[in-house]
Amino acid sequence: MENTTQPLLEEYQLGALKLKNRVVMASLTRGRATNTGLVPTPLMAEYYAQRASAGLILSEGTWVNPQSIGFINVPGIYTREQVEGWKLVTRAVHDHGGLIFSQLGHIGAASHHDHLNGELPAGPSAINPQTKSFTPNGFKDTLKPREMSLAEIRQTVQDYKQAAENALEAGFDGVEVHAQVGMLIPQFLSLATNQRTDEYGGSIENRARIVFDILDAIIEVWDSTRVAIKFTPVALSHVGVMTPDAQTIPMFQYLCNKLSDYNLAYLHIVAPSEDLTGTTVEALQENYFDHFRNHYSGRLMANLGFTRETANAILSEGTADLVSFGAPFIANPDLVERFRSDLPLSAGNPDLYYTGGENGYTDYPRAILGEAHGRQEVPAE
Ligand SMILES: Cc1cc2nc3c(=O)[nH]c(=O)nc-3n(C[C@H](O)[C@H](O)[C@H](O)COP(=O)(O)O)c2cc1C
Repeated sequence: MENTTQPLLEEYQLGALKLKNRVVMASLTRGRATNTGLVPTPLMAEYYAQRASAGLILSEGTWVNPQSIGFINVPGIYTREQVEGWKLVTRAVHDHGGLIFSQLGHIGAASHHDHLNGELPAGPSAINPQTKSFTPNGFKDTLKPREMSLAEIRQTVQDYKQAAENALEAGFDGVEVHAQVGMLIPQFLSLATNQRTDEYGGSIENRARIVFDILDAIIEVWDSTRVAIKFTPVALSHVGVMTPDAQTIPMFQYLCNKLSDYNLAYLHIVAPSEDLTGTTVEALQENYFDHFRNHYSGRLMANLGFTRETANAILSEGTADLVSFGAPFIANPDLVERFRSDLPLSAGNPDLYYTGGENGYTDYPRAILGEAHGRQEVPAE
């Protein structure tokens, strides 16, 4: 494919934001906020700045309040110090010509009391999600959580709103609500983890209510075209009891239809990483993203396992408007330049994903040394 005709490298108008290409860096938890306040650091600013040639960067999942914590050394966006730390990151990305959204997350029932000063985590119902939590003492099995009271749900929605205000103050260009499987929001969507009998449980409308409560609160702060949401509708493994259920397909049809009225920046959908044959969501297997395209009238961002070729193909077919890349950005800070010049990609070292420090974080070299795109010209030593 001619470099200049790659849809991936075309400019893209995202509401008021002009993206210089359609390559999005997906959120990547990297466990580098290695301080007791979970404050973003200058090293994190350097890491994001190295990747600023992406059309848009999505920050790592970031806690909206202390109860949302469920993984070590992940930054928050609920204290003054954290907001000041994020200013370093947003300034560095903007200085290098990039754009960055904050990903707002809450892990709900999938936390562990080791993160919460001995308190039990809270979720939609007192049901163990049966996953693992990465605690200061290593990976531990999740526990039977507390059921959130209605007052707690309302407070959590307010905490998302405050986090969105903090993201605005910190200089982000928008926010993405983190609703990937395992997090609090999909715990409300799932029949297995939500057995509430109030207005947040039971029917599809009730289980989905928290999505719209949170979005309604955030769009009081941000223009809706700066607000997005990311879902993993059909994950099968490492998700404990939160596997797709008999209502997953109608649930996502409902969500897509209702989200179409929100004029969001985009709906971010993660593809399955496994064969869906024989599951309750088998019908989504063929032409997966079309199912979402058909029910959602806004911009669609596609994710999982994309390469230069498959991403260009889905954009030229018009099935997605943007494509995000997660793991490829770990070892290829210059992913966009590599796509432009059709250079091979480097493989990241999973052993260093969450280990803290520069090693396996800011020390992955660019493919072309001395290449000037307004960013770092030589790799770290
Ligand atoms: C190390 C690592 C950390 C991740 N952290 C997050 C996160 O904080 N938030 C999120 O929504 N997804 C997270 N993901 C998922 C990615 O954003 C992306 O959805 C996934 O890697 C699939 O895209 P890919 O095939 O291009 O890697 C993470 C993935 C990896 C490999």
